[in-house]
Amino acid sequence: MAKAEARKTLQQFDEELKQLHLSGQWIYEGLLTQCIGGPRPRGDAFIWPWKTVLEKLTEAGDVLEESFTARRSLLFNNPALPMGGTTHTLLMGIQMIKAGEIAWAHRHTLAAIRFVIKGDGKVFSVVDGERCPMEPFDLILTPQWTWHDHQNPTNETAMWVDVLDVPFMLGLNLPFYEPYPGDKVQAVRQKLSEHLQQRTGVVRPTWEKAKQENLPLRYRWKDIEPQLRALSDQAGSPYDGVALEYVNPVTGGPTLATLSCWIQLLRPGEHTKKHRHTSSAVYFVVGGEGTTVVGDKAMDWNQHDSFAVPNWAWHEHVNRSKTQEAILFSVNDTPIVSAFGHYREEPENSLRSATTPAVPVPAAAKG
Ligand SMILES: [Fe+2]
Ligand SMILES: [Fe+2]
Repeated sequence: MAKAEARKTLQQFDEELKQLHLSGQWIYEGLLTQCIGGPRPRGDAFIWPWKTVLEKLTEAGDVLEESFTARRSLLFNNPALPMGGTTHTLLMGIQMIKAGEIAWAHRHTLAAIRFVIKGDGKVFSVVDGERCPMEPFDLILTPQWTWHDHQNPTNETAMWVDVLDVPFMLGLNLPFYEPYPGDKVQAVRQKLSEHLQQRTGVVRPTWEKAKQENLPLRYRWKDIEPQLRALSDQAGSPYDGVALEYVNPVTGGPTLATLSCWIQLLRPGEHTKKHRHTSSAVYFVVGGEGTTVVGDKAMDWNQHDSFAVPNWAWHEHVNRSKTQEAILFSVNDTPIVSAFGHYREEPENSLRSATTPAVPVPAAAKG
């Protein structure tokens, strides 16, 4: 009897282990059973209305006369992610550069994309020495560890969407940073023949070893918009409408190693089917008005609003207009998820599942 009384309880034992920085695997069994059916979406579905963002960004222009790096951005913090982030892997924000300002050159291991809201082509980013003009809705990449500065020599304020893989990279504890040595702005490649983008098209130098990684790329809206419209009479995805992925033209893979950018057209009145997937996404409304329903939360969006859709949350998109199309730009973390074979979708895997249109059959052969 005395021996039984002396035996430790499981609770006491667990406490003792804790003091030794150990734990019994048994305490996690309950947590694992909670994952039957998949994880709980991490972070909330949340919307940042353009009206508020623009108002506060303009105010920031007065309050913060000049920041350390001349970067004036508002970051979108998901209310259900106390460690920060717009989703659990992505950080979104809107950056503003006032007339005549320069955002100093630096580089970091965090990969970023810029989607231009306001700029006239005279505003530009320099990425690894290559000048990239920023016109409305152009996409500029600043891949990991590339030097970048942004310059606004015009008389107007310039603005763009920033999306970075910050929460993911902080999770890996890999945030390296370096200011550009010696100057605020980097030296620019003068000769067109030295531009890397001359090597990302359908021809390339035969005498060079092709560079695969970290190409600074500019996707011109002038090129993207006609392609989006050309494909808009296709059935598209039942879950996303006519959604196109910005492809890395060198690797044929996603936009960046960690981020995939999409441009998506919802036709008037289009209401997509509901699905969920293991990737998360952040959206920017290029134009139109609609509603995205995530779980039981309906987010009504209008031009230039931004919103987040967490991973593994059921969602559907509606174009509320019966006459106007809606266009959404989005960035998702499918490259991260897919790199380890963890992309899943319910109720079916719709991503890249349809076949391309068949070769047409001559009218005479149709009988
Ligand atoms: Fe940066
Ligand atoms: Fe989706």
